[in-house]
Amino acid sequence: MSQNLVELSVNGSIQVMWAWESDTLLHVLREVLGLTGTKNGCEAGHCGACTVWIDGIPRLACLTPVGSVVNSEITTVEGLGSWWQERHPSSHYHPIQRAFVESGAVQCGFCTPGMLMAAAALLRDVKFLTDQDILERLAGHLCRCTGYEQIVQAIRQAALTEVTEQ
Ligand code: FES
Ligand code: FES
Repeated sequence: MSQNLVELSVNGSIQVMWAWESDTLLHVLREVLGLTGTKNGCEAGHCGACTVWIDGIPRLACLTPVGSVVNSEITTVEGLGSWWQERHPSSHYHPIQRAFVESGAVQCGFCTPGMLMAAAALLRDVKFLTDQDILERLAGHLCRCTGYEQIVQAIRQAALTEVTEQ
């Protein structure tokens, strides 16, 4: 097996690197590109900590072969603020980032990047959120610290902020 030259679009920048065919997107983001915001919780699709957007859709980077995303736009938690700012130039942070801090939804923070990427996609896709929508989207995202209530509260708060800002 040999390495291949791979070109990825990550957070709006083109990145070129050598990668093994078996490398996952999670490995490349963290170990090659140094984007350690995306967490490695289980490396087996069970915890949600590695969630990134692939063409805007939340996906588990630990289950994604890097070769399958060469023609896609990848957004990690490091790019979420910029993604938001492109659409709302006066704000450097996505409302969900602020809401997580203000609601106490960040404790050890290990689950937070994956939660943020899942929640931001939900806020983008669903205009009027119910708690059921939130709980369904968070299924598959494990948090050992918060008991989830603060996370749900943060998403509710961000939904209100988004409606107010529009
Ligand atoms: S690290 Fe990918 S789901 Fe846990
Ligand atoms: S804040 Fe620690 S795992 Fe969620």
